[in-house]
Amino acid sequence: MTGTTETRTYAEKGDRKSCHGRMWCWLGSLLLLLVLATGVWLGIRFGTDRAVTYQDDVEHFKYGSTGGERESGFPYWIWRALPTVCADYLPGEGYASLGMIFEKGKDLPVGVSKRRVTGLDRVFLNCAACHTNTVRDTPQSEPRLIAGMPSNTLNLLAFENFFFGCAADARFSPDQILPAIEALNADLDLIDRYLVYPLAVLLMRDQVLMLKKRFDFVAHQPAWGPGRVDTFNSAKVIFNFPLDKAAPEELIGASDFPSIWNQRRRQGMQLHWDGNNTRVEERNRSAAFGTGATPPTLDRESIRRTENWLLDAASPAWPYGALNAALVEKGSNIYRHYCAECHGASGKDFSGARVGTVVPIKVIGTDRGRLDSYTRVLALNQSMLYAGYGDERFSNFRKTNGYANMPLDGLWLRAPYLHNGSVPTLRDLLEPAVRRPVQFYRGYDVYDPVRVGFVHNVAAEGERRFFLYDTQVAGNSNQGHEGRAYGTELPDEDKEALVEFLKSF
Ligand code: HEC
Ligand code: HEC
Repeated sequence: MTGTTETRTYAEKGDRKSCHGRMWCWLGSLLLLLVLATGVWLGIRFGTDRAVTYQDDVEHFKYGSTGGERESGFPYWIWRALPTVCADYLPGEGYASLGMIFEKGKDLPVGVSKRRVTGLDRVFLNCAACHTNTVRDTPQSEPRLIAGMPSNTLNLLAFENFFFGCAADARFSPDQILPAIEALNADLDLIDRYLVYPLAVLLMRDQVLMLKKRFDFVAHQPAWGPGRVDTFNSAKVIFNFPLDKAAPEELIGASDFPSIWNQRRRQGMQLHWDGNNTRVEERNRSAAFGTGATPPTLDRESIRRTENWLLDAASPAWPYGALNAALVEKGSNIYRHYCAECHGASGKDFSGARVGTVVPIKVIGTDRGRLDSYTRVLALNQSMLYAGYGDERFSNFRKTNGYANMPLDGLWLRAPYLHNGSVPTLRDLLEPAVRRPVQFYRGYDVYDPVRVGFVHNVAAEGERRFFLYDTQVAGNSNQGHEGRAYGTELPDEDKEALVEFLKSF
């Protein structure tokens, strides 16, 4: 009953205050309506947060969002215009010259996602930037795109230097960038043209310059070359560690991009090159920092989709004709004897007493730069990540004393080999270090099915120059994984048989 009374009272009040014939009152209401409508419009315009989505899981992996654009995203039209504005900071024509891959009909390269947020379209890297590449059978062949393999052609350091260089240049201003955007026939309205984008240029410049300062350590490192990144020194940047005060031996940790198929069967294994983390989901969330996604900005639904796909994503089979059955048989026996305990029974069966555990550095003897780049202090700090987010909080990072025995699925696509990518082919890895190539080129996607790896004795293709990898540079050593247990003392026929068998992985 009280309800009815209140309703009536309200209605009476309403009657009393209605706008009968009063002009100013009507105007006031109209104004109020206008303000409300503008509010709603602004809310939609600047409050919308929607990523471009994809039906197919592989498309989602290649172009879907991790949430990174929310905080780290570059405004789409600035991204598009910069290769013209700062062309001289690129090694060649456009983003493709950094080793990014453009599929037909796409305006963004593989590994770049798009989201409408804070009133404009923003783009940033996703997992596929570092975990997808092309393979060509011959220089004339159509490139085949393979999701989940290491991005051998992506030169991430050149990518960083392009943005850092351009942001520090006087040309990074609304005066220069806006006309370049207009020249691309961008669909900017007046608010975009005169308010949103000029402001976005200034904000992006400040953001990139801040990152440039924090990532200063890379300016003092030998060039990574394509297909590599210093993972954990970059992670230290999250905590704003003063890297100029860090011990010199922890400052060179360039490592090869790994393949990331078959994560379900990797659950519980000590992985990352040094085996510093046993939990698949935590490795993924850690990787998400590389895509700009932080605890509050991570798009959980989207990352879960990628995570689920990765659980059973399979590596593609060897495509270069039938394998020699007799050689495979012989090779499998050698493999079982020497390698299976550490690397698993086969490319599909990962069982083996030591798979997913760490071999001490003194025993494995490979370059220790990456191992030393990961420190106990970093591990401790990482355990603060996602604090306040329930069981998402990191708790599995540990300092180890060597490198991990990982499964070898899709091995043929994982060249160059070892954690620093210092050995160009599988056949070379079976030689003692003194007989492995001292220098070779990285960044070509044409395949060498004989030695099993990418062609690495070609300096350039057209305009595109490849990177000369020098194993004598700090962090690049090709030593280790040698001696009887590692097959390097086998006779040549046995090595050939072993390589034939490993093609089946
Ligand atoms: C900037 C490049 C880059 C991006 C982006 C990136 N990764 Fe990685 N990822 C790496 C590198 C390098 C490693 C090896 C780390 C190490 O041990 O030094 C790695 C390791 C991994 C591993 C562990 C592999 C193993 O078996 O040891 C997984 C799983 C992984 N990444 C998944 C992802 C996912 C999922 C994403 C997207 C959320 C992602 N990565 C984004 C570069 C990248
Ligand atoms: C005692 C354990 C152990 C044995 C035995 C062993 N390996 Fe390894 N293997 C490792 C470790 C540890 C690494 C990582 C080393 C690094 O990257 O610094 C590795 C790396 C590799 C890689 C590089 C993988 C990649 O993605 O780059 C290949 C290929 C490989 N081993 C093949 C073999 C073969 C073939 C045999 C047998 C002839 C063998 N290994 C024997 C421990 C072992």
